[in-house]
Amino acid sequence: MKAALSHFTHTDDCSTEQLHGLLQLAQRVAADPSAYYQKLSGQLLINLFYEASTRTRVSFEVAAKRLGMHVVNIGTAGSSIEKGETLHDTFFTLQAMQPDFVVVRHPVEGTARDLVSLAEPGTHIINAGDGTAAHPTQALLDALTLQQHFGDLSGLTIVMAGDIRHSRVARSSLALLRRLGVKEIRLAAPADFLPGEQTVAHDRVFTEFDQALEGANVIMMLRIQKERISGLNIPDAGDYHRDWGLTPQRLALAAPECRVLHPGPINRGVEIASAVADGPQSLIRLQVRNGLYTRMALLLALSGGNHAAM
Ligand code: NCD
Repeated sequence: MKAALSHFTHTDDCSTEQLHGLLQLAQRVAADPSAYYQKLSGQLLINLFYEASTRTRVSFEVAAKRLGMHVVNIGTAGSSIEKGETLHDTFFTLQAMQPDFVVVRHPVEGTARDLVSLAEPGTHIINAGDGTAAHPTQALLDALTLQQHFGDLSGLTIVMAGDIRHSRVARSSLALLRRLGVKEIRLAAPADFLPGEQTVAHDRVFTEFDQALEGANVIMMLRIQKERISGLNIPDAGDYHRDWGLTPQRLALAAPECRVLHPGPINRGVEIASAVADGPQSLIRLQVRNGLYTRMALLLALSGGNHAAM
């Protein structure tokens, strides 16, 4: 990568060349992870998570530890956030410890960029999800998973289905997939769950799931983001599964080689049937493994030096 990347808050912060560079490094880490073990020995990463997380938080922690780093985890429970400390004051406290990385997840859009403006030189800020806005490392790991499976993405028809409106994964993944030049993106959701923004103008929109599936090479499923829904009815799980659940019967409407992605956590029997989630066309567990390699690659790239060129 030519221009050095200091922080990673949004895929839009990166040039297309930088995004390709990150994905190429992630491919190399995935091919031989142990070649990178201990490369950032002694550095400090702080996970600052104001929302629940399993995959993202643990994979940042494991990625950092595989690279030889020290890791501190802070959440809302058990920290001074419970005593009313503001985000900025918590950040200043953490910054005083001179961390090399702060990975932040927060319900308010723009939080990671806000922390970039407060960070001292030498501290890299990474966005692990801000409200409904962005989850850029999930987008990278999704793209890595598709590249590994399909090679070139330019021939792919990708269906994104479910609660797109409230999903930061959808926003980041769709933006990245468009930049990587996939052939066609279809958005499939009940009207309440379609995103309102202009950016969908390029995509085909379906309010009947079955109609969206013909010829699909990839189906990216999303759970209903109950915690972000206000002013809308949350659908009954059974009704939703009937109309919007990815079942083996629905999957059979897509292209025979179609693969299924889901960022997790999955809600079995709601947006996805167990037979699909655990079936031969599912790449869900590979996504989790790739999350580790993607985050190792990102930490290496942000830390600069010649690690990223390995
Ligand atoms: C997602 C998130 O937090 O945005 N989870 C994840 O990081 N893999 C998706 C979700 O919560 O539905």
